[in-house]
Amino acid sequence: MKKPIVVGVVGCGYWGPNLVRNFKGLANCDMRAMCDTSEARLEHMRRLYSDVEGVTDYEHLLNGVGLDAVVIATPVKHHYALAKTSLLAGKHTFIEKPMASSSAECGELIEIAERNGLVLMIGHTFLYSAPVRKIVEIVQAGDIGEIRYINSRRLNLGLFQKDINVAWDLAPHDISIILHVVGEFPISVNCQGNAHVTHGVEDVTNISLTFRHKRFATIQSSWLEPRKVREMTIVGTRRMIVYDDLETNEKIRIYDVRVERPPHYDTFADFHYSYHYGDSYIPHIQQEEPLKVECQHFLECIEKGTRPLTSGYDGLQLVKILEAASASLKNDGAAVTFPRRQDTLTYSEGSRPQTALVAEPMPI
Ligand SMILES: NC(=O)c1ccc[n+]([C@@H]2O[C@H](COP(=O)([O-])OP(=O)(O)OC[C@H]3O[C@@H](n4cnc5c(N)ncnc54)[C@H](O)[C@@H]3O)[C@@H](O)[C@H]2O)c1
Repeated sequence: MKKPIVVGVVGCGYWGPNLVRNFKGLANCDMRAMCDTSEARLEHMRRLYSDVEGVTDYEHLLNGVGLDAVVIATPVKHHYALAKTSLLAGKHTFIEKPMASSSAECGELIEIAERNGLVLMIGHTFLYSAPVRKIVEIVQAGDIGEIRYINSRRLNLGLFQKDINVAWDLAPHDISIILHVVGEFPISVNCQGNAHVTHGVEDVTNISLTFRHKRFATIQSSWLEPRKVREMTIVGTRRMIVYDDLETNEKIRIYDVRVERPPHYDTFADFHYSYHYGDSYIPHIQQEEPLKVECQHFLECIEKGTRPLTSGYDGLQLVKILEAASASLKNDGAAVTFPRRQDTLTYSEGSRPQTALVAEPMPI
């Protein structure tokens, strides 16, 4: 029988308990310890999981309980320091999104993980969800034609964060999905927004990503909306996909609709756009908790020594886009253009998008 992987979770606020619950439910995992600087949070967690040790001392978590892997679910400003210490202690490390506060920090973490032959995985949870995997499959099969644009909205009366704005909090979900669906890094980023409630912390933002061949994506993020919205539209040259994550069973609908210009016409009277209205259909999706799939994938990558679907490189790409969005925000939405090298190197450096959860061997 395989030896279970011994896991510790750091940060037991809103999201950490979901990670503890999922790791605890996996057969090849020994969910051994949880750490939080708040004794009150630990008390709560000990009541739920009396067999999991709760500690306030991170050093003790790293060196005193025999962990193979550390899972970090603290506020973003702590990700880099906690992950660096974990990797230097020889632990495989999972960091919640966004990976760190800057691309320089991400680069350093990737380097330490590679130097020490450790798995470094980032919690881009939506890439483990069945609807998103289905969308990627449909797009890669060419069913919708060429992507024209993507529009994504993630809105509600949200949990206000103090250290990051709504773009850093919510847009990582949309950006990770969009990069995966489009399969390349954008040429430039624009971002506009406003801080209505907490000075200096934008609670509403609009990000635009421009890709090659005139394709673009818009991402609207808000903590200030009366209704909860989790919607993405992917418009292709042949078909369109609407993904509504709040739908219980029919999360994806594919519309066989398109508009075409006549190839040639003699007079203006002859000019008619050609509208195609076909059927719409809802593909069957086998639902599974994305976080469970994600946690299982982390353990499998450790067992097999493979690179995760959402590796440190993917975390870095995403943080580069968030940094560019912040720079644009400070400059009234002016475009921040990436150096030319980026768009060709995007995935060749290791973060090539995959449809299935087949991890790549790590280059170590
Ligand atoms: N993947 C997802 O869908 C998803 C969803 C929500 C949150 N998240 C991510 O999870 C992370 C945590 O978010 P949250 O909403 O749970 O935050 P939170 O503020 O609710 O909880 C953070 C917890 O970390 C603890 N903490 C802070 N510093 C610590 C340290 N140095 N050592 C140990 N514990 C420490 C705090 O006491 C708190 O209990 C963030 O990166 C967030 O973006 C991911």
